[in-house]
Amino acid sequence: MKVFISRKIFGPIIDFLEGNGLEVIVNEHHRKLTQEELIEHCQEVNFLLNIGHIPLDGYFFERCAHLNGIALASVGYDHVDLTQASRFNIPVSNTPEVLSKATADIAFLLMQAVARKAFYMGRLIERGGWKDFEFINNLGVELEGKTLGIYGLGRIGLELARKAKVAFNMNIIYYNRHVSPLAEEMVGARYVDFEALLAESDVLSVHTNLSPETAYRFNMDSFKKMKSSAIFINTARGKIHVEKDLYNAILQGEIWGAGLDVTDPEPMQATNPLLQLPTVCVLPHIGSATIETRTKMSLMAAHNIVAASKGEPMAQVINKEVYNKSNQQ
Ligand code: DGY
Repeated sequence: MKVFISRKIFGPIIDFLEGNGLEVIVNEHHRKLTQEELIEHCQEVNFLLNIGHIPLDGYFFERCAHLNGIALASVGYDHVDLTQASRFNIPVSNTPEVLSKATADIAFLLMQAVARKAFYMGRLIERGGWKDFEFINNLGVELEGKTLGIYGLGRIGLELARKAKVAFNMNIIYYNRHVSPLAEEMVGARYVDFEALLAESDVLSVHTNLSPETAYRFNMDSFKKMKSSAIFINTARGKIHVEKDLYNAILQGEIWGAGLDVTDPEPMQATNPLLQLPTVCVLPHIGSATIETRTKMSLMAAHNIVAASKGEPMAQVINKEVYNKSNQQ
């Protein structure tokens, strides 16, 4: 049986797959494949270990209906049409939990970087702009005792809340589909509705998946309801905020600034005006990009492929109905 891996991956992961009897084919290009190229590679294999966000949509599944399993090396699966995957009885797995701490670290980093204009100050030095010690210029704001609002309190949001509580004794409020007794117990988090989340947060951090419900939820209308001193953080998906509205909101003083690890589109162009604002810090989607986390993510994906190759269920399957369906047959 053969597996195609859509981007370069760590050697030991390939050894693990081969050690379990799989023939491994890896995209050797230093770039992401087009969807057509991915489809072409999938013709010769039984499994796909997918790294990155190439759309796995109806068009893809129509042409790759023969696949026996797809393991995503990501927690997000907004690029996958699960209805189509299930239609062709293809299990799809993701990598939950293992990246929560690393991603929360990036949100934590951005929160502080925006509060102290850190990226802008760094660029100022590079431009030769550090002339003297400034006393009443270049001032940031402090996070101690402020209110952190979490939009989407899953594992990543909870991890950020925990760090913010310990480091800055922040008050935690959250808006979620469900109340989280765990968050209430761990960090004293208080459930609020969306309007209160906007109105009360000093820092508002997004930790939800991209869905029709969350797409473009943060737009000018929402930014206007936030404090003029508020910091907006998004490490989830770029399409959850409206980038142009975010720029205008900061420029017009509706909010203080923003820290983004995700943009719309990605990659963000170097000429994007957001990058010029002192209170904006942007990173190139590196939430899970640590040696430890990427190793765990690839290993989890590889385990799922091995399970599928043995006819066993993938432990982190998302479209569980494929297994219920085959039980019923
Ligand atoms: C994820 O795991 O969803 C990250 O955004 C990286 O793809």
